Amino acid sequence: SVKERPMVVRCYTRTMIRMTQPRVVIAEGAVHLPSWMPVEAQQKALHEIRALADGEAGFYTPILRNGARMRVRMLCCGRHWDAKTYRYDLLRTDVDGLPAPPIPEVLRQLACEAAESAGFSLEPDVLLVNWYGAEGRMGLHQDKDERPEIIASGVPIVSLSIGDAAIFEFGGARRKDPVQRIRLESGDAFVFGGSSRLNHHGIASIVAGTGPTEFGVAGRYNLTFRQY
Ligand code: SIN
Ligand code: MN
Repeated sequence: SVKERPMVVRCYTRTMIRMTQPRVVIAEGAVHLPSWMPVEAQQKALHEIRALADGEAGFYTPILRNGARMRVRMLCCGRHWDAKTYRYDLLRTDVDGLPAPPIPEVLRQLACEAAESAGFSLEPDVLLVNWYGAEGRMGLHQDKDERPEIIASGVPIVSLSIGDAAIFEFGGARRKDPVQRIRLESGDAFVFGGSSRLNHHGIASIVAGTGPTEFGVAGRYNLTFRQY
C-alpha cells in the first residue's frame, strides 16, 4: 500500500540484506530474528564489549539478595542493575561504587535497528551485557524493574547474542506457563514487547564451542537493551 512504501524504501537503502532475513514470531510481540547481525556488525559490537571489559568498571559476578552468585558475569551501561535491590542505580553500589559507563553509541544504534526490524521502537537507556561461560545459565525471570509506565506501554526488550549458542527459554506472563526452547546463535536478535513484555524467560544452557571461531570469544555475550 501507499502507506507502507516509504518504510520499505528506507529499509532497502539502509540494509538490503535484512529485508530478506527470517523473522520468527514466537508469541504476540515476541520476535526471533535469526542471523540478524552481519558478521562485521558482530565484530564491531565485540570491539565495544572488549573496550568496556577493559575499562575501569568491568565485568563482575552479581550476588543476589539471597546470597547466591549468578552463573553469569555482568556489566551494565547507562544505569546499573543492582542485584541486591533489583533496582537501577547510576552507581554500582553492590559491586564497587563506580558509575555505570554510558551505552556505546554503536551498540545503542544496533538496538534501535533491531527493535525496528521487529516492528517496535525503542530508546534504550540501559544495557546489560551478560557474559556466560560453558556452565553459564540464568533462571526463568521477568524483566520488571523498569518504570511501570514503560512496561505498561509495551516498549520492548531487545536482546543480541554473540559467541556460543544458548538454549533460551521463553514462557508466558505466569511462571507456570509452558516455555518454548529457542536456540539463540551468534548474530541473532530476540525482541519481546507488547503483550509479551512481561513474559518469563531464561537461559537453560550454553552450547559450548559453537560460536564463530574467528571471533575468539570465550563463551557467549548477550546484550540486553531496555528503556528505563
Ligand atoms: C536476560 O534475560 O537478561 C538474558 C537473556 C540472554 O542471555 O539471552
Ligand atoms: Mn531478562
